[in-house]
Amino acid sequence: MDRTEKLLSWYDENRRILPWREDPSPYHVWISEIMLQQTRVEAVKSYYSAFLEELPSVRALAEAGEDEYLKLWEGLGYYSRVRNLHKAAGEIMERYDGEMPRTYEELRSLSGIGEYTAAAIASIAFGEAVPAIDGNLLRIFSRLTGYAENILASAAKKEAFRYYSDWISPERPGAFNQALMDLGAMVCLPNTAPQCADCPLSSYCAAHEAGNETALPVRPAKKKRAVDKMTVFVIHHDGRILLNKRPAQGLLAGLYEFPNVSGWMNEKKALQYAQSLGFSALRIVRLPDAKHIFSHREWHIRGYEIFTGDWNDPAGDDTATGGPAAEKAPGAGLPEEELRIAGRTMFLADSAELESRWSIPSAFAAFRSHLLKN
Ligand code: ADE
Repeated sequence: MDRTEKLLSWYDENRRILPWREDPSPYHVWISEIMLQQTRVEAVKSYYSAFLEELPSVRALAEAGEDEYLKLWEGLGYYSRVRNLHKAAGEIMERYDGEMPRTYEELRSLSGIGEYTAAAIASIAFGEAVPAIDGNLLRIFSRLTGYAENILASAAKKEAFRYYSDWISPERPGAFNQALMDLGAMVCLPNTAPQCADCPLSSYCAAHEAGNETALPVRPAKKKRAVDKMTVFVIHHDGRILLNKRPAQGLLAGLYEFPNVSGWMNEKKALQYAQSLGFSALRIVRLPDAKHIFSHREWHIRGYEIFTGDWNDPAGDDTATGGPAAEKAPGAGLPEEELRIAGRTMFLADSAELESRWSIPSAFAAFRSHLLKN
């Protein structure tokens, strides 16, 4: 057996049983590959099945509303990826009559489909012999060949692509790519953990031969993440909870959050903040601190829960509500519809809908769980 056959027969015996492998239609492979770029396989499973239940086809995805697809992505992170999925679904409807294009080159032309994703779909769903270079394939490449340059540089990706192109199976390219992914996930583990005794490729491995497999791949030292301090406000009014829709551009674009400000506020300042939005505060409770880690930043969050009485338009006229002041129910406070305060879009959400309707990113999840518990 040559190395390709050894790898494939290892795969046939050891491969992981995964939902998207059971029915690898192009749409299924696409959705799973985008999800798998950001989260562990185990965590993806439930997102994957919920997503397909709600949006089972390219057409359904193209026709979905923003709040619907953002909700299905809630907690996965990198929300621009689901925006691009939606956008690309529209492109497939327009340019390809709703059928996923079948080649690497055409797939590459769709929004959000880069080299890796195009190669994964082309090989797994359409049998095109193109290597799908992800972190696993890079690590395995560096060990098999003894490649000791920076593995995160684009030159490494090019080298790896060339290297695998030479021995990818033309009959089973999807199995070849997924075999390497599984080998990387189960055997050729990062850092100090490679299980060389179980590896079908150990006799071809330069790093194993030299005994330096734990020193590869070489990656540059990580930069320290910037830390943002912030204060989050869970404001109860009239049996509902104040939410803010984030701006359409930037971090967590278009998602929903509890109102917040940068910096840590003490109780007195927090009460003043609630007043600046027009609320008379009756009671304030400090919530447990929370921390959220993004790839390049960390949020260190202080939280307050504030129970309110009246609301009075802080602008002192009707510009904040978009309607004549006289139409407001006397003393009832905020209108149901959007409220614009200091350029933000806030509204009172039904507490049941905090869970079922609005996509609230993980950074705020601790505060929402607190609410749902109580
Ligand atoms: N990670 C990314 N894509 C994968 C796949 N198709 N199988 C297993 N792990 C993966």
